[in-house]
Amino acid sequence: MKAVVFNGAFDVAVREVPRPRLEKPSDAVIRVTTANICGSDLHPYEGRAPLDEGMVLGHENMGVVEETGDAVERIAVGDRVSVPFNIACGTCRNCDAGWTNACLRANPSGRPTAGYGYPMMGPYWGGQADHLRVPWADFNLLTLPPGTDHEADFAMLSDIFPTGFHGAELAGVGAGDTVAVFGAGPVGLMAAHSAMIRGAARVFVVDKEPDRLALARRYGATPVDFSTADPTEVIMDATGGFGVDRGIEAVGYQAHDHTGQEHPEMVLDKLIEVVRSTGRIGVVGVYNPEDPGAATEGAKKGRIGFDYGSVFDKNIAMGHGQCPVKRYNRQLRDMIMHDRANPGMIVSHELPLDEAPRAYDQFDKRVDGWTKVLLHPAA
Ligand SMILES: NC(=O)c1ccc[n+]([C@@H]2O[C@H](COP(=O)([O-])OP(=O)(O)OC[C@H]3O[C@@H](n4cnc5c(N)ncnc54)[C@H](O)[C@@H]3O)[C@@H](O)[C@H]2O)c1
Ligand SMILES: [Zn+2]
Ligand SMILES: [Zn+2]
Repeated sequence: MKAVVFNGAFDVAVREVPRPRLEKPSDAVIRVTTANICGSDLHPYEGRAPLDEGMVLGHENMGVVEETGDAVERIAVGDRVSVPFNIACGTCRNCDAGWTNACLRANPSGRPTAGYGYPMMGPYWGGQADHLRVPWADFNLLTLPPGTDHEADFAMLSDIFPTGFHGAELAGVGAGDTVAVFGAGPVGLMAAHSAMIRGAARVFVVDKEPDRLALARRYGATPVDFSTADPTEVIMDATGGFGVDRGIEAVGYQAHDHTGQEHPEMVLDKLIEVVRSTGRIGVVGVYNPEDPGAATEGAKKGRIGFDYGSVFDKNIAMGHGQCPVKRYNRQLRDMIMHDRANPGMIVSHELPLDEAPRAYDQFDKRVDGWTKVLLHPAA
């Protein structure tokens, strides 16, 4: 089959690789109809997260079931399915408690997390390919209505829509809240959309990319361009000096100033400034325990010095981590089906697999107009 293969930093290629097959009775193999490129894929792409050469990329996958193992009962050949980016066994202590992002069994390295085509998430190939093997298919797969309706919306269910929603959940966003989202990449836009769905009164979205800020406005948020103004001043002025109730971090460890210089603590510090005392912050942007390419010595070892003193002083609660996609994807699927959510609005490009190398390059450079890329292997 054809697949997008990681060759090294800034080097991905579309190559012929062996087609995945059923390895265990609980597996399914799907024919991939859509696989997205994610901001998280840019971490290995930029050489900022260790990935083995030859790995097939892609953790935002959907498609049609082609084959099922003998132990698969709920999922049938021909089902249209969304594949959560987390691979979870369904029966370990963490899965049992709903933390499918922290499965204790799926990653052979023993690290409590597993996923497709991703650094340190196990040996599982990704879905930027014609076919994908899905372990524990009954537990992991979400069924979708047959056909091709809402393909771009449903494609957001494997990661970024649930992840944005998780950011809003961690921040406790509820009816009438004011919210500041930092980052207007796909995850930040989904967080803003989720905050609106949950009844927020006002949502600020901070970034510097005009195309992304324009999408934030289309979701009903107030865009704040940090390259022309200090977001703290803008948000404090707009809230009468009070600050926002909720903050969502959707940038991660490569947070930078408007010149591009990285400051890994920068967005956390800004959120602590703009969130009111007793407010909450949800962090879904990724921070790593090790980052050899980090801007500071401490950050190379995951030590990111943000203003914890003010977190304590202001009684701000913080939550963080990877999204347990299964906790939200069924509900978000149903909102899409009943026109209560339109996550696909951020999609800028729908391309055949062969275009993946160019798409990685353009998305990585945040070239204007490249807000979210969908790859269609069969195209
Ligand atoms: N927790 C999870 O389960 C999960 C899932 C998916 C993605 N992620 C992570 O979420 C983060 C965002 O993902 P994405 O796909 O939107 O990535 P992205 O890189 O496309 O978007 C990040 C955005 O942050 C902006 N930014 C940079 N510095 C900023 C600053 N100082 N203030 C405000 N904005 C700033 C950039 O301009 C960019 O638009 C990444 O770290 C990604 O790995 C986490
Ligand atoms: Zn992703
Ligand atoms: Zn498990």
